[in-house]
Amino acid sequence: MKEKARNEKESQVTPQAIYQGRRRFVATAAAVAGGAWLVNQYGLSSTKEKGQTVAQSPPPPASPSKPAATPSAPASATKKSATQPDSVVTSGLDVRLAGHSKSTRYTENARDKTTPVGIATTYNNFYEFGTDKSDPARHAHRLTLRPWSVTIDGLCHRGGVFDIDDLVGAHALEERIYRLRCVEAWSMVIPWIGFEMRDLLKRVEPMASAKYVAMQTVYRPDEMPQQRSLFRTIEYPYVEGLRLDEAMHPLTLVTVGMYGQRLYPQNGAPIKVVVPWKYGFKSPKSVVRITLTDKQPPTTWNMQSAREYGFYSNVYPARSHPRWQQTSERRFISEGGLFNTKRIETLPFNGYGSEVAHLYQGMDLINRYY
Ligand code: MTE
Repeated sequence: MKEKARNEKESQVTPQAIYQGRRRFVATAAAVAGGAWLVNQYGLSSTKEKGQTVAQSPPPPASPSKPAATPSAPASATKKSATQPDSVVTSGLDVRLAGHSKSTRYTENARDKTTPVGIATTYNNFYEFGTDKSDPARHAHRLTLRPWSVTIDGLCHRGGVFDIDDLVGAHALEERIYRLRCVEAWSMVIPWIGFEMRDLLKRVEPMASAKYVAMQTVYRPDEMPQQRSLFRTIEYPYVEGLRLDEAMHPLTLVTVGMYGQRLYPQNGAPIKVVVPWKYGFKSPKSVVRITLTDKQPPTTWNMQSAREYGFYSNVYPARSHPRWQQTSERRFISEGGLFNTKRIETLPFNGYGSEVAHLYQGMDLINRYY
């Protein structure tokens, strides 16, 4: 895709100053303004210590067949790596994570056993760090995780720029074990920790005219090698979007943790929106902006190839993909990597049909709204 076209598309959802630079300035100012806003609105006070979080030393290369160190075998405190979770000290988030509850509804079951953490954190798609599945675990430690702010704007009454720790501090955190189905026909089962996106959206009071939610992820070419590469496969920043009713659905989760800890950098730290009934690419990592809008927002993979990746991209076995059959999936079942998988049937809406199918009543999900 040509640079000009990209800029035109991005500018439909993103003011030029944001997507072309000055991000650091905005983030820093935001941290202050956002904290103040929340204190005013919700009586929150911040207990955090802010600091830079770039890991001290690069991790050893992760091999899919032999996962690198995992939380159950942590590296020493002085040797941080992307195989460890986001570990910057912000006491508020850690207190919240420690006190998270566990969902009684979204749990593992005989079919859906939790994927070993060593697989979920070393076999990743995070194109900003490279296209090989092991690249994110190798390179994501370069991402600076604090300060981090999230802008919520567009068609809402109480938008603003929020420091991440203040933003999360207003919500009780819950662990939910969700299935993750990638369009590449592999799948995992991951215990996320987060809160419902609808609770966040309600706080900013969407206007009646808001129909969609556009999500933009971080743009930092100096920290994300693919963003500065001449040979990049997709254009950045990575953007995603949902219809407002999809974003307000109780299944849509704003996540800040996984496997009982903070999110790992390679899985989208410090904040990832998880939409479990859609293909994995609809769950954006390292989100910096959420915009309420009345127009269907552009989305990265749809811009890349509209024929292959629709805006909706619900997991829907009856709609085949030109490169991956979608009727079954390779489920990772144990540590040991790529070959420890079993093939299982793919379920419509990734098994969440009883909760979400009504959102698409009367819509042709095969030919039109795919
Ligand atoms: N978000 C960003 N910013 N960049 C990406 O490349 N990849 C998507 C999605 N979110 C991606 C992203 C894809 S294709 C998938 S399958 C999931 O993240 C993978 O999430 P996981 O690595 O936590 O399993």
